[in-house]
Amino acid sequence: HTIYLKDYQAPDYLIDRTELLFDLKPNATLVTSRLLVRRNPDAVKDDEAGLPALWLDGIDLELLSIAVDGALLPAQRFREEAGGLSLTVDKPEFLLEIQTRIAPESNTSLEGLYLSNGMYCTQCEAEGFRKITFYPDRPDVMSVFTTTIVAPATYPVLLSNGNKVDSGTTEDGRLRVTWEDPFAKPSYLFALVAGDLQYVEDTFTTCSGRNVKLQLFTEARNIGKCAHAMTSLKRSMRWDEEVYGREYDLDIFMIVAVDHFNMGAMENKGLNIFNSACVLASPETATDTAFQRIEAIVAHEYFHNWSGNRVTCRDWFQLSLKEGFTVFRDAEFSADMNSRAVKRIEDVTLLRTAQFAEDAGPMSHPVRPDSYMEISNFYTLTIYEKGAEVVRMIHTILGAEAFRRGSDLYFERHDGCAVTCEDFVVAMEDANNADLKQFRRWYDQAGTPVLDVQDEYDAENATYTLTFHQHTPATPGQEEKLPLHIPVAVGLLGANGDALALDESDSKEKVFHLTEATQSFTLHGINERPLPSLLRGFSAPVKLRFDYSNTQLLFLMQHDTDAFNRWDACQRLALRTLEQLQTQYRAGDVLESPTALIDGFSAVLGHTELDPALVAKMLTLPSAQEMAEQGSEIDAEAIVAAREFVRSTIAGALKSRFLTRYHALDERKAYQPTAEDIAQRSLKNTCLAYLCNTGDEDALTLAQAQFERGENMTDVSAALAALVEYGAEGVAEERLASFYQQWQHDTQVVESWFGMQSSSASFGSLGRVRQLLSHPAFELKNPNKVRAVIGGFAMRNFKQFHREDGSGYEFLADQVIALDGLNPQIASRLVTPLTRWKKYRAREAEQIQGALKRIADSGELSPDLYEVVSKSLT
Ligand code: ARG
Ligand code: ZN
Repeated sequence: HTIYLKDYQAPDYLIDRTELLFDLKPNATLVTSRLLVRRNPDAVKDDEAGLPALWLDGIDLELLSIAVDGALLPAQRFREEAGGLSLTVDKPEFLLEIQTRIAPESNTSLEGLYLSNGMYCTQCEAEGFRKITFYPDRPDVMSVFTTTIVAPATYPVLLSNGNKVDSGTTEDGRLRVTWEDPFAKPSYLFALVAGDLQYVEDTFTTCSGRNVKLQLFTEARNIGKCAHAMTSLKRSMRWDEEVYGREYDLDIFMIVAVDHFNMGAMENKGLNIFNSACVLASPETATDTAFQRIEAIVAHEYFHNWSGNRVTCRDWFQLSLKEGFTVFRDAEFSADMNSRAVKRIEDVTLLRTAQFAEDAGPMSHPVRPDSYMEISNFYTLTIYEKGAEVVRMIHTILGAEAFRRGSDLYFERHDGCAVTCEDFVVAMEDANNADLKQFRRWYDQAGTPVLDVQDEYDAENATYTLTFHQHTPATPGQEEKLPLHIPVAVGLLGANGDALALDESDSKEKVFHLTEATQSFTLHGINERPLPSLLRGFSAPVKLRFDYSNTQLLFLMQHDTDAFNRWDACQRLALRTLEQLQTQYRAGDVLESPTALIDGFSAVLGHTELDPALVAKMLTLPSAQEMAEQGSEIDAEAIVAAREFVRSTIAGALKSRFLTRYHALDERKAYQPTAEDIAQRSLKNTCLAYLCNTGDEDALTLAQAQFERGENMTDVSAALAALVEYGAEGVAEERLASFYQQWQHDTQVVESWFGMQSSSASFGSLGRVRQLLSHPAFELKNPNKVRAVIGGFAMRNFKQFHREDGSGYEFLADQVIALDGLNPQIASRLVTPLTRWKKYRAREAEQIQGALKRIADSGELSPDLYEVVSKSLT
């Protein structure tokens, strides 16, 4: 059933203290809770007619006993219902003791308390705590937690939130540890870990001089993979002090790596739990991309300590309050640590590829949704990435200093509270006397706005006018859209490539504030017809349309001072070229050589003073997924044909330039994950992929040599991927086998080995993907393996997944059905590619819809999968 934001009511009861006792056993863990319950003075109900019932959420729990103020509660005073427990106590304040039994061993949903490789761990956000014990499992109930864990001595490490306050052994020789978290928190931030773990330790001295112990726990075999995460953590702690004035607040901060995890990581107070793939890395086993992802996620979870934990969400409709803000914070951190332009390009690519598609699909929702069936389905690109763009726009509109005043006020005003997106915006306004009234529409209007731009130059009066027209297409349940406040950063280029002054103060960039459906802005003193550089740095999450000529795009690629727009000009040229080729392909015409794009790439390749990472990004064609999102109707075959044609034509035309650049960049030096070295490797490996795309023996020999040198995983896996994609089938098979032979003991490497195969357009046929499913290292119960094999095929292997016979869709449907019984969150995420069927040509649309219907009819679906499938079919 559907839950609505408009129905929000404050909780009837508060829990001032929560004391938990866990007696751990794989199939019979006893959980005893002692809750200090108090009637909420701010609750809406009038108590004249008697106190309301106390509702406690609970799922898959075996209730053993309930006592109030020390006396067992008689059966007529409580009722077990679907999803929880209702109690009538008739006291405004009491001590409630509940004992339940749970079975972590059979918990495959990876929500609540479960086992991963024999280690106990928890995931409570959003509603997992109710799978541990009966509790008001909602973020506006904040409590001070004390947790005692009792476990056999084979689990020497027993962790929970806060500070360790007691430890010992029980009479029967088991270990007992008590943790106390002095900060009141909602149940979703609770965590527990128990296992035979090793750790690395470090310290951090905060700005006020306090020493914080930092510990990173992992299984013994991974202890050599912790250094990068630890460095990232210390950098994050320093950055949050310097940029936001936020100091860490406990004496200890712990991170634990677990192999079975639904998402990237979780910000539990003082005890972050991470997907192993998002925290463990060494130069030999992890690529640059993994190193950077780890840095970003460690920062993200750490930053949640303020944006999420100290100030939390009132209800789950406000999820973007913490996630959008925290993604913005981690993106700025990564930009400060690495190349700002490249980070922005990566984020915008994700937004354009996946978030725009979400906005245009059946699950489209605003940054602050007004209804949902299953909250787990709303950990989306819209909440996270578009939410971050909304915060970024506030930053752009107010300016950095004013934004900081706003965030200071927000943290000060709401510390220890559960608040709303509205509270965030009000703090930004109040701190700066600003008006964000119209801007608020970004929070409740779904869909991607389209911005059409025209320009007019008046030589006589030396004026230049830009006219903007905005409109947002209708989305499910939202027909009418109102004009948004859109900040558009603009610069102008003169004929010689110089940036023109836009006003008397000689500024070279200006932000126009669009607030109406159609609006013009005129600049004076413009003495030549300029070329506009629009939406610099992607200043708003919109689709900007301006009728650039190819020559103008090539000019922007060469001269724009905004690095992001330089790349974007290249993307526009590529997308346009690819679209024309799709049309030619559909018409059965001979495909025309992409000459403008070749010229552009050639110039970019010759630009040796440009950041190599930026060059690599410019030389990377938009993915098939991004092309699909851009067009109006998806013709999978035409997309693949156009893209393969452009790529191989460019590879052939610029072969010698790729080779020169490859050799120049191919230096022997010790691996370092610095921005500079990462940039160098990324361009080198981009060149290598193009070289191998020619199919030339020399090129494949080069890849083979790089593979064999085995200097670091970035270079090894790039070489292997090129061999798999462009080498002869037998060669690919052999290299993959020897690689597996070497790395089979390493979970993270095996995961990427799986992904490399299933996402390969030439190698990852459905037959091979099926073989991977029966490979001994594959586990349907492990989300990383599922994402690598099934996700790699359905989400990153456009060519094979969209095979004409529809077998890819049927395969995915089968896997989704199988997974739903084990792990609903993963099943409902994996079904995403099938939800966009309306955008495909009739034949594919029918096939995809058929696969969806088969899922719908396969039996009783989890609430997660049901929501996505039913919304996609209507
Ligand atoms: N709060 C976590 C993060 O963004 C993600 C938790 C995801 N939980 C879920 N049920 N999907 O860092
Ligand atoms: Zn988060």
